[in-house]
Amino acid sequence: MRQKLTLAYKLKSTAIVTTVGVGAFFGIGVYRNEDKFYDKFLMPIVQLCPPEYCHRLAVLGFKYKLFPRQHQPDSENLKTKLLDFSLSNPLGIAAGFDKHGEAVDGLSQSGFGFVEIGSVTPEPQPGNDKPRVFRLIEDKAIINRYGFNSDGHDAVLERLLKLKKSNAEIVLGVNLGKNKTTEIAHDDYVKGIDKFASVADYFVVNISSPNTAGLRNLQQAENLQLLLRKVIEARNKLDQAKRPPILLKVAPDLTDSDVQDIVSVISKKECRVDGLLISNTTIERSESLKSKDKSETGGLSGAPLGSRSTKMIAKIYTATKGQVPIIGIGGIFNGQDAFDKIVAGASAVQIYTSLIYHGPPVIQKIKKELSNLLAANGYESVEMARGKQAKIIAKETK
Ligand SMILES: Cc1cc2nc3c(=O)[nH]c(=O)nc-3n(C[C@H](O)[C@H](O)[C@H](O)COP(=O)(O)O)c2cc1C
Repeated sequence: MRQKLTLAYKLKSTAIVTTVGVGAFFGIGVYRNEDKFYDKFLMPIVQLCPPEYCHRLAVLGFKYKLFPRQHQPDSENLKTKLLDFSLSNPLGIAAGFDKHGEAVDGLSQSGFGFVEIGSVTPEPQPGNDKPRVFRLIEDKAIINRYGFNSDGHDAVLERLLKLKKSNAEIVLGVNLGKNKTTEIAHDDYVKGIDKFASVADYFVVNISSPNTAGLRNLQQAENLQLLLRKVIEARNKLDQAKRPPILLKVAPDLTDSDVQDIVSVISKKECRVDGLLISNTTIERSESLKSKDKSETGGLSGAPLGSRSTKMIAKIYTATKGQVPIIGIGGIFNGQDAFDKIVAGASAVQIYTSLIYHGPPVIQKIKKELSNLLAANGYESVEMARGKQAKIIAKETK
């Protein structure tokens, strides 16, 4: 009997010591924000969970500030201007991560220079059936077909109002989408402009998600002209003190003639957006994809999108003679990828998929490498490097 008790006691003690040890190991690893710890230990475990579940956990992690705050200031050469905003660095979190505006403060504290939430639709809607997110691990990519799952304008606005009261410092973009059943698309975007005018620093009109039927048709010249006229009209009716800039987010799958059409529409006075986001996910599936889920329906993001979106940035930067600010997105995993987007013509960049694969340490890694690359190439700032290789990159595409 006594022997049995001693054995039980020993087993219990071993279990406690092991749990505390493993907990401490992971706790310290997360606290120290080391990329090797994430890549070798944490992310392989995280990747055992279904992707949408992990997405939710990651949002909650930022919401409850479980990831370390960035204490050291950003390097001087990362300070930059986007639209009229002064950013401490040019790296933002792309739309679709914090869809409902829950984790803005935590994302900002982790080192992002600006935060974009959404896409938000006027009415709450559940999005497509699950499963709707797939990891393509061998390809460093994701396919998603969320289909604008959204808490809706009212719930998101309530959160953002609380945030703006407590932290006015963050540069916050609100990315607008449309409800699945809305027939007159521009009505939903106009509702978004009216609703979020008091909290948004900039708006994104997202017409490039592949997961809402017909949405991408809004990129066609005639439709685009009507849509932009309506949203700009709505913005210009707002109180003069609060008229946020409006940016347009485009797909990477546009032909040269689509690009020409978009450039000519946005050069019209009544359709003149303040900037472009290039790009959203692609519906293209290159031959080189290896992962088993490569044929899933949806938008592909991550490494395979990288050079495609960089080329489109260069084309549009050249076509607009550098007059339109561009946020470069797609397949940024390191400082070189961010640098490539900037010399192609981007004023700032955003990430999503690399955060999913590498966790929060990727934020510091990209910024540090970008700062070093700017210095090594003789650029004192992001603005100095912007568009410096646009013509070369744009020609490569022909
Ligand atoms: C799971 C997922 C959901 C997304 N949802 C949205 C969205 O709601 N609105 C939007 O404009 N872009 C959305 N995107 C596109 C991203 O904002 C970004 O443009 C794209 O993923 C390319 O960047 P990346 O290669 O760094 O991921 C989503 C991307 C992913 C991976």
